[in-house]
Amino acid sequence: MMRFVAHGLGDRGVPPSRIHVSLERNVQCAVGHCGHCQLAPLFICRDGPVFTWERVRTLLGVREL
Ligand code: FES
Repeated sequence: MMRFVAHGLGDRGVPPSRIHVSLERNVQCAVGHCGHCQLAPLFICRDGPVFTWERVRTLLGVREL
């Protein structure tokens, strides 16, 4: 859902640096130790949970296995 909204905003001329997404999910320890919330190099609990679309768009485009 976030991807579609962010793409829609981008199509309407909103720059990726002005689009913010909240990735609050899969958090357990919430202090950056367990790795449960890790999204590539980012720890959602430590580095976010709110990120600019510019920062996470390539990471959210990758399918999980
Ligand atoms: S929830 Fe444990 S590292 Fe983020």
